[in-house]
Amino acid sequence: MTLVSSTAMLQAARAGGYAVCAFNVHTLEMLQAAVEAAAEADAPLILQSTVGTVKHLGADYIAAAAKTAAARTRIPIALHLDHCTEFDVIVQCIRAGYTSVMIDASHDPFEENVRQTRRVVELAAAVGVNVEAELGRVGGVEDDLVVADADALLADPDECAAFVEATGVPTLAPAIGTAHGIYKGEPNIDFARIERIAAKVDVPLVLHGGSGIPEAQVRRAVSLGMAKMNVATELRIVFSDAIKAVFAANPDENDPRKYMIPAKKALKAAALEKIRLCGCAGKAADAR
Ligand code: 13P
Repeated sequence: MTLVSSTAMLQAARAGGYAVCAFNVHTLEMLQAAVEAAAEADAPLILQSTVGTVKHLGADYIAAAAKTAAARTRIPIALHLDHCTEFDVIVQCIRAGYTSVMIDASHDPFEENVRQTRRVVELAAAVGVNVEAELGRVGGVEDDLVVADADALLADPDECAAFVEATGVPTLAPAIGTAHGIYKGEPNIDFARIERIAAKVDVPLVLHGGSGIPEAQVRRAVSLGMAKMNVATELRIVFSDAIKAVFAANPDENDPRKYMIPAKKALKAAALEKIRLCGCAGKAADAR
């Protein structure tokens, strides 16, 4: 297959009561392992990269790898740009072949968030690319994006409805109490708020900060309308820990394949767990 827009797969997920996993990848091996996991589970998949990774690897390299992965498998795969504040990076990624982009103007006042999101929605709609926007402010650290706990802000359900109406954005990430990175204690998810937002907004909702949320809480959030779950930190940790273990056992190792193979295996296993948890295993046909 070719890369697909994430719109149809996320709408199917919202209607079907499950979530599609969106995995942040930073290297070719991470991308391959995420694809192997989704293919084994016959799940739709969203590969995503942060702006930092786009600047590190190049949107063209990432898109070429994702396109090759899509051509080699039968599962639907979308390529998404995570948390972008820069319009020119969005344009660059769409031109490279990304099929989904996030415009994150959540730090700006509501009207400015609407203005920036509408501009991206118009551009993306013309080329069949999905758009995600954020309301409220997800706390924690994601790449270069740092939001202190005191600055995190939950999304207001009425504002969510007004925002979707004003922008026509096809996917919404409302801040509902999760955070990027590993939680110090348990996350404080506001389930009643998810319910109220889902009642007012029928577009697929996105759960950010998917690392470290207890399984029962993920299931509950998904059952209430969260149709995409982003996972970054946990995958980076299992991938890096596997590499560290190789070097701990053999400090002189100098063949990248020797430490990348166990790292890929570890990431694949972690990705499979998230796929099963989100209920998207066996759902590839929904978006084919
Ligand atoms: P985690 O790093 O907490 O998994 O969050 C990922 C995320 O939401 C990316 O946008």
